[in-house]
Amino acid sequence: MDRRGFIKNASLAAVGGLLTVSPFGEIVASDIDKTEDIYNKTKKNMKVLLINGSARRNGNTFIALTEAANTLQQLGIETEIAQIGVRAVRGCIACNQCMIHSLGKCVFDDDVCNEIIDKMSDADALIIGSPVYYGQPNGSVLSLMQRMFYSAGSKVRNKPAAAVCVCRRGGATAAFQTLNMPFQMMNMPVVTSQYWNIVYGTSEGEASLDIEGLQTMRTLATNMAWLLNKIHADGNPDYPKYERQKPMNFIR
Ligand SMILES: Cc1cc2nc3c(=O)[nH]c(=O)nc-3n(C[C@H](O)[C@H](O)[C@H](O)COP(=O)(O)O)c2cc1C
Repeated sequence: MDRRGFIKNASLAAVGGLLTVSPFGEIVASDIDKTEDIYNKTKKNMKVLLINGSARRNGNTFIALTEAANTLQQLGIETEIAQIGVRAVRGCIACNQCMIHSLGKCVFDDDVCNEIIDKMSDADALIIGSPVYYGQPNGSVLSLMQRMFYSAGSKVRNKPAAAVCVCRRGGATAAFQTLNMPFQMMNMPVVTSQYWNIVYGTSEGEASLDIEGLQTMRTLATNMAWLLNKIHADGNPDYPKYERQKPMNFIR
């Protein structure tokens, strides 16, 4: 078998969860069966919501998120992949109606935003995946995040979060940084992996050839499952208590 054929077979097997890759690049049998025992103590059915910010439902971002979702499921955690889809997602217009009326959702109910807020409320953790467009997350993902965090921030507070970026060649670290910004204002513990959560691919399906990228997704999912189990060890989530916030605008 030539090198290309080998890589294809190995990555297909890795997608199926049969094989994994050592830090030295060799393909080794998966350790998932062993790690599963650690997580059998799970007290409640925990759920991770994964948002596919790509308009391509089955594109490369979907492949990356599916890899993480499969590992989470193997570790006893429920998952749902929410699709942002192809319909327009409007941007925040700073009308503040959500704040003034404590809506807990966006005042505009004509796109996917409030539907995703509902899903997010039910979930214990969040993974947001986006294709990289000009070194940034795509426009729809940014519009969605800005509206959902502004109007429903209390529904995500303390829930572990991670961003995933998918690109052809470059700009993923800048997009990754952007996606992570709101998590850090929402008291959401940011879950890490063995590398930045980046998967490479251009045409639909190509991401399944990025062996290291997919392993990064599995490690991310393993870390998220580990953290969720720590937080929920006693059945109820063990979240911290805070002092009342003291907002200060820098205008005199
Ligand atoms: C408008 C647009 C801009 C893009 N900009 C970048 C870019 O800056 N860097 C890059 O590596 N890929 C870029 N790409 C390629 C996509 O990130 C890549 O095809 C990715 O796999 C798409 O993910 P998806 O299949 O989940 O939609 C761009 C694609 C489009 C449509």
